[in-house]
Amino acid sequence: MTKRKLILDCDPGHDDAIAIMLAGNHDGFDLLGITVSTGNQTLKKTGINALNITQFLTIDVPVCLGLERPLVRDLQIADDIHGESGLDGFNFPPLHKSFDQRHAVDFIIDTLFESKEKVTFVTTGPMSNLAMALRKAPKIVDHIEEVVLMGGAHGYGNVTPAAEFNILVDPEAAHIVFSSPVKVTMIGLDITRQVQVLPKIVKRMAAINNKASDLFVKLMNVFNENQARVFGLKGGPLHDPVTIAYLIDPSLLKTKHAHCEIDLSHGISYGRTNCDLFDYLKQDANTFVAHHIDVEKFWNIIERSIRSYD
Ligand code: RIB
Ligand code: CA
Repeated sequence: MTKRKLILDCDPGHDDAIAIMLAGNHDGFDLLGITVSTGNQTLKKTGINALNITQFLTIDVPVCLGLERPLVRDLQIADDIHGESGLDGFNFPPLHKSFDQRHAVDFIIDTLFESKEKVTFVTTGPMSNLAMALRKAPKIVDHIEEVVLMGGAHGYGNVTPAAEFNILVDPEAAHIVFSSPVKVTMIGLDITRQVQVLPKIVKRMAAINNKASDLFVKLMNVFNENQARVFGLKGGPLHDPVTIAYLIDPSLLKTKHAHCEIDLSHGISYGRTNCDLFDYLKQDANTFVAHHIDVEKFWNIIERSIRSYD
């Protein structure tokens, strides 16, 4: 079976950590590298978190730091959910792994041009790095299989009534990605809110009793506490791993090809993903918008991934 070449751009982040876990050792992927964006916390912290996760899970891939702030906006972080470190809840062993010295944008461009096969690009944070790479080297679009992103919502947001965090942190970057010629699959809050890490899920994964389950449980306990305090949820939505789970098993999601546009006006809807699911505006479809998830299948994929770290 040919492995799918993958670059994962993320802002770890509790749910990003589980996305890294899923991508890190699945035999269907050739994970070429992890590029780090700011978002859930400052870049210094999301970068250290990415090193800690990959070292702890023995995922031997380059980790490259990206932009320290969004293209236009000032930085807005999500420490209310992810804490002071950006990954509160787990004491990692002393860190020995270091960053790849290439900037994330250069790593993305070089890796895409050097790869013999097209590369699938997954983003689970603000899209500043990918957007900058598209602006610096537009011809990389010919080397990208598709972009699968966690972000947006065709319903209501989670930072404002209109906007979801990954998009609102850097709406201009999102616009560059959504308006590029690349195939984009958008996995928004409408989907990810259906996979909440409820107590029965924590119990199920704790029973696996290996280092990956220990990481999952300790991170999710803090993630859930914060999600309960901020949103009153019984379990935090496990947003980011849905991207990788979908690549593991595309039957996980149902998508609709539609025109999707980022609101760049500076009003109450700034950063909204306007998904024209009923084609009111008769504009060209540019995004595969996920609108259904097989929840049981998702948790089975998560369980299989955790077990695979025995
Ligand atoms: O809105 C949820 C998204 O914002 C997730 O990617 C989470 O990690 C945060 O980055
Ligand atoms: Ca994220």
